[in-house]
Amino acid sequence: MNNASPIGVFDSGVGGLSVLGCLRRELPGERFIYYGDNANAPYGTKPPEQVLDCVCRVTEKLVARGIKAMVIACNTATAVAAAQLRAMYPFPIVAMEPALKPASLMRHGGKVLVLATPNTLRLPKFAALMERYGEQAVPLPCPGLMELVEAERFDEAVGYVTGLVAQQRQDTVDALVLGCTHYVFLRPALRRALPEHVALVDGNEGTARQLHRVLLEGELLAPPSQRGEAELMTSGDAAELLPLMRRMLKRAEDL
Ligand code: DGL
Repeated sequence: MNNASPIGVFDSGVGGLSVLGCLRRELPGERFIYYGDNANAPYGTKPPEQVLDCVCRVTEKLVARGIKAMVIACNTATAVAAAQLRAMYPFPIVAMEPALKPASLMRHGGKVLVLATPNTLRLPKFAALMERYGEQAVPLPCPGLMELVEAERFDEAVGYVTGLVAQQRQDTVDALVLGCTHYVFLRPALRRALPEHVALVDGNEGTARQLHRVLLEGELLAPPSQRGEAELMTSGDAAELLPLMRRMLKRAEDL
């Protein structure tokens, strides 16, 4: 493992590609290996022990490729497994959580709606986040929403979210946290669908900056002459899923 080694990035499916788009913009000279665990998706509604097993297997696959760092591009996998993975591996692991902290700074006395998977919102990590930044925050679990994004059924996915927002008085909502990396793909359409005063907040750029910092501090940045690249892998049917993953990565350029 050295500076020229790749960085592993994974998610339960295509959601983490929204993060990979950001990572590539922030660190254009890095080589990324993206693993979508599509065969085991979704993570958000499975028993956490099962998700932990899946995440450990994915990590082993990435480790076998000689990665110098890893990004858990999935809020659910972070909530379930980040602590264990950090205790097991010596390389830096950057993880994600719903961007409640930046959203709390955008409040003007109104509510912050936090959209995420049932597991993310149920596990202790989120309770700790709510404790610190959760004033007027309303957690809204979204079972089934990642599946709509995986199927590129974006109109229905946007309808799902606007339906949830409509259950609140819209003038009382200051921000919407996209607390699952799949939901970030809905950002442009949600921007058009929701009133201007509702801020849309996600953790993707913060995660990219955090990876940059960590590589810098660990003297792990790629050599300046290196050309960046992104290799895509999946535990599912590659013939079907790789074209979808490439489409989603392209879509991530416009987020
Ligand atoms: N993209 C994932 C997240 O950020 C999880 C979606 C799922 O597998 O349920 O939480």
